[in-house]
Amino acid sequence: MYQHRIRRPSLMNAVMSADQAARLVTDGMTVGMSGFTRAGEAKAVPLAMAERAQSHPFGITLMTGASLGNDIDKLLTEAKVIKRRLPFQVDPVLRAAINRGEISFIDQHLSETVEMLRSRQMGPIDVAIVEATAILEDGSIVPTTSVGNSATFAILAEKVIVEINLNQPLELEGLHDIYIPSRRPHREPIGVMKCDDRIGLKSIPIEPSRIAAIVITGQTDSPSSNEPGDHATKAIATHLIKFFEAEVEAGRLGRSLAPLQAGIGSIANSVLQGMIDSPFHGLTMYSEVLQDSTIELIDAGKMTFASASSITLSAPFAERFRERLSEYKDKIVLRPQEISNHPEVIRRLGIIGINTALECDIYGNINSTHVSGTHMMNGLGGSGDFARNAYMSVFVARSTAKDGAISTVVPMVSHVDHTEHDVDVIVTEHGLADLRGLTPRERAPLMIANCMDPAFREEAMDYFERACKQAGGQTPHLLAEAFAWHVRRAETGTMRRK
Ligand code: COA
Repeated sequence: MYQHRIRRPSLMNAVMSADQAARLVTDGMTVGMSGFTRAGEAKAVPLAMAERAQSHPFGITLMTGASLGNDIDKLLTEAKVIKRRLPFQVDPVLRAAINRGEISFIDQHLSETVEMLRSRQMGPIDVAIVEATAILEDGSIVPTTSVGNSATFAILAEKVIVEINLNQPLELEGLHDIYIPSRRPHREPIGVMKCDDRIGLKSIPIEPSRIAAIVITGQTDSPSSNEPGDHATKAIATHLIKFFEAEVEAGRLGRSLAPLQAGIGSIANSVLQGMIDSPFHGLTMYSEVLQDSTIELIDAGKMTFASASSITLSAPFAERFRERLSEYKDKIVLRPQEISNHPEVIRRLGIIGINTALECDIYGNINSTHVSGTHMMNGLGGSGDFARNAYMSVFVARSTAKDGAISTVVPMVSHVDHTEHDVDVIVTEHGLADLRGLTPRERAPLMIANCMDPAFREEAMDYFERACKQAGGQTPHLLAEAFAWHVRRAETGTMRRK
């Protein structure tokens, strides 16, 4: 049943069970595993590792592209297999272990992990575990629904375990563009001049003798977990689309805007869905993950091409994607995440980056990761790769969280992932603040009036005015009060004044 997926006959000898392959991973190893935004992760061997740890406890450093599906982070955490984890995660059980200080988590720009491995600032990788559609005659590996960091993990690892997933359609072959930047200090420019440029190979080139095990699997990717859009996400989309229309009107953008990047989650998905009924056409994406909205835009004839590192869909859209894969293949490419998120390409293409903030402040600084400045949510993912280098960097958020108890617009963010210098536009359901070309003192009244929930505006304005009078400066703050809202939330459960 799988012979046609292992096209190098000598490698048939490497086929073994997941349990046997899992024994190649031992205590203290660093493992690089495929998987990005819950797509294309290795599925059988990590479960076998969790199982084996019950009788033979062991711990590893686990690197991936980004988040994993099928509860793999949860199961490996519960089995106490993960000691260190990078560069991103979204699992509640793993998150809790990180915040208890039991698992060390390195929150890293997604474009940087493999650069650090290649230059031996991290690593080495002992074992790579990569999900594949097929292994070709030359031993190269065709990835599945994500590329992530798999190519470099496989190229650098001492041993490679390949999971051939019979459930992933063979037609995925040809969807990928595997390009590995040349070595420094004489690195050549990365030749992506347009979203649809292909500059690499269709499979991951590795020396076949390093394939130590092949495991046959059949489990599907987890469906995406996006909530359907609600009043707030639709209002955010409406504000942003109106803003883009004004940019077109002013002659700064054409009707096809600029290549779009949209972060994970329901807000970003909803913003893109809003584009379906917009006057824009000929849209393109240069992003890291493609969600349902990409398929909708392509089907509606609004989007001509989408480039990313993974594709994460809900069950009905995954079905549609499989059925019409041959049509989508001309319109989609999946690249290594260091290329989908590469600063050089992002700056060259002039991308509009749309990412979600956990918290922003009246001056435009963004916290994407730390609840109340201390507790890790998911990680900054690719938001920093895009925010710093985009033509226009947009952050979106609901104006409040936890049923209105928390204002997501605060006097001073409790942790900074993106500084005010990297942020051009902020949007909540209440409105949009165009911060371009404004000083911090000009930004604050706009943020308070346009983006903040009305319940918090008066107190914020009072803070800002007193900070201007009493402290002064380029970015006025009353240091003893700057986190008063966070302290109130910690003491009373809400940022609201009683
Ligand atoms: N303080 C405390 N909790 C907050 C909060 C704040 N300021 N803002 C949001 N939250 C909570 C929400 O209440 C919600 O909690 P719940 O899951 O218990 O209901 C959760 O955070 C998610 O918020 P939501 O408004 O539903 O937005 P989201 O699902 O789009 O997630 C981020 C928002 C910021 C957590 C998410 O986008 C993220 O991890 N971003 C960083 C990575 C990134 O930007 N990647 C981009 C490239 S892919």
